[in-house]
Order: sequence, then C-alpha cells, then structure tokens
Amino acid sequence: MTNAIRPQPGILDIALYEGGKSHVSGVANALKLSSNENPAGPSERAREAFLRTVHTLHRYPGTDHASLRQAIAEVHGLDADRVICGVGSDEIITFLCQAYAGPGDEVVFTEHGFLMYRISALAVGATPVEVPERERTTDVDALLAACTPNTKLVFIANPNNPTGTMVSSAEVSRLAAGLPPQAILVLDGAYAEYVQGYDAGLNLIEARSNVVMTRTFSKIYGLGGLRVGWGYGPKPIIDVLNRIRGPFNLSTTQQEVAEAAVRDQDWVTRCRQENARWRVWLAEALAELGVPSDTSMANFILARFADAAEAEACDQFMQSQGLIVRRVAGYKLPHCLRITIGDEASCRRVAHAIAQFKGLR
Ligand SMILES: Cc1ncc(COP(=O)(O)O)c(C=O)c1O
Repeated sequence: MTNAIRPQPGILDIALYEGGKSHVSGVANALKLSSNENPAGPSERAREAFLRTVHTLHRYPGTDHASLRQAIAEVHGLDADRVICGVGSDEIITFLCQAYAGPGDEVVFTEHGFLMYRISALAVGATPVEVPERERTTDVDALLAACTPNTKLVFIANPNNPTGTMVSSAEVSRLAAGLPPQAILVLDGAYAEYVQGYDAGLNLIEARSNVVMTRTFSKIYGLGGLRVGWGYGPKPIIDVLNRIRGPFNLSTTQQEVAEAAVRDQDWVTRCRQENARWRVWLAEALAELGVPSDTSMANFILARFADAAEAEACDQFMQSQGLIVRRVAGYKLPHCLRITIGDEASCRRVAHAIAQFKGLR
C-alpha cells in the first residue's frame, strides 16, 4: 500500500466494536450473559416462519418490506409509510449518520452511550461529541448545552445501555424542544419493550418534526442472530433514509421471521414479565452482597464494584465458574460489570458466584 492510499477522514479513529464474549477457554458450555440476549429465544411462531422460508431461498427478497412494515405499523398503531427496516437497528443508526452528518458536523451522545453512535459518526467523518451523564443517567441540560450550530444528530438510548437507566417522557420532550433547528433527536428504543406501558417516544414523534426512533428485534424478540431493526419518524426523514438503503438489505427470512415475531405480542408480554421478575430478584440479591446497581429498566443490570480491580477480579472468578458477563471499561465504567438477566437458574448461578467471590458463601 502506498501512502497515497488513505481512507476517508475519521475512519482510522474508529476503535473496533467488541461484542460480548461467548467462550471461556477451558470451560465447556459457558453461560453467556454478555450481550443482552433473550434467554428464551424467539417465539414459536417466529421459529416456524424461519423454517418456512427455506422453500423460497432461490428468490430475491421484496425490496420495500411492505408486509413487515405493515405488521409493525398495525401492532404499534403507526403509519407504515414512515417505518424503515434495516439490518439491526445498527443499520438505521448508520443510515442516519450517512444521511445527516459529515465532516464539520457534530454527533452528540451521552458519556455511557451505545458505542455505535461514535463509530457511525466517525465513519462519515463527523465529530463525535460525548456529553457527561448525571449519576449514570442522561442529563438533558448537559445535552442541550453541548449543542452548537454544527450539531446534526443527538442520540439517546432510553433505557440506556449499559446503565439500564431511563429519563422521563417529559425530559425527552424538553430535549427535543430545545434542540437547534438543524438537529435530529434519535431515540434509541432497543430496550423499550422491557418497559411496561412505555410508548418509546411515539407520541413525541407524532407531535414533532425532529424526532426519529430506532427499534430492534435483537432483544426482547430473541432474534439477535437474525439482524433486523427498524426506525420510525417524520416522512421526509424516512424518505431520505430509504434513498441510501440497499434495496435487498433484508432477506426474505429476515422479513418473514420478524413479521411473525412482531405479530406474537403474547410472547413479548411473557418475556417482559419474566425479565422484570428476575431483574428485581438479581438486583436485590447482589445488593445484599454489597454489590449495588441503579434501578434497571432493561434486560440487564449494571453491577457496581469498589473499583476496577474488584470488577476485573469478579469477572475472572465468574468466568472460572462458566459465567460470561460484560466488562464495560470501554463505556467508561471500569468498576462495573453488565450482567444480562437470564432465566431463573442463570440468575441464581450469578448470585451464588458473586457471593462466593465476596467470600460470603
Ligand atoms: C442501545 C442499543 N442500541 C442499538 C443496539 C443495536 O442492536 P441491533 O443492531 O442488534 O438492532 C444495541 C445492541 O446492543 C443497543 O444496546
């Protein structure tokens, strides 16, 4: 390679995204609690849809995702023309950055925000702007103070990963109302289904022209391996995103399985209830062991240790017990471990291992 061959500005500043670990050397069948996956997997109806699509694998998929968008719209009470589907919500985040940010523009997100916001901003040559949180919670005043005439996108995840915390709808409205006129608020709702009665910002989107929502089938729908997400927003913005979307970005399998999944809301309800039950149980069990966490609204808890050394030692000990959780030093939380809420047996194993680590059992 000669020196004359260079990637676009920003790309060499990207630190590669590291997913949650899934293996521990020397430990067979380790329990993976590092990627916020649904321990129950997808619904039966989604599994059946997956098998059915084997018969049409020689056919190109539909390009407009009409049936999937219609299903999403019906289930959530939306306008199907304002739904866009992507390869995970990651792809919707990518489209937003490609379409609305570039060199000289700023992409704002929170201190412990999802790593893809930074990566997607850098990939288009934009400037990532990281804003402090207050006690591991989105700080609307700090976000508003960080906005400038160059701010094009403001990302918040509500609930947030990896903190699990949430801000109220009133706070989100205040943020949307206070943004400069050229900026879009992106409400990342990857964990929205875990919050009983939460509209994920839909009312706000209907009321304003500067708010877009992203959602995923990777979490409560148990389809992280399938890679399907979607976005919803004002028609002019969705039309722009569709111009840069590859026509065949989603396979027939992705579209049909996601459609079956979204139509099975009983499964979603059951998974939400089960998650809430074991999330409370695990948070209380760890608190009794001297490991606090903020009240989580998602399918994980962020366990806080005395310092980075203790968090690392606990992680090592859990790995030796076949338990894989997530180190979050890359999210500026070196003293914490993010632990996905698994099934009852998994939660009990985690609590037992941490008790042993603390010398309490
Ligand atoms: C806050 C947040 N947003 C978006 C995503 C991306 O999810 P996917 O691309 O699987 O839809 C994740 C995945 O971990 C996440 O935690």
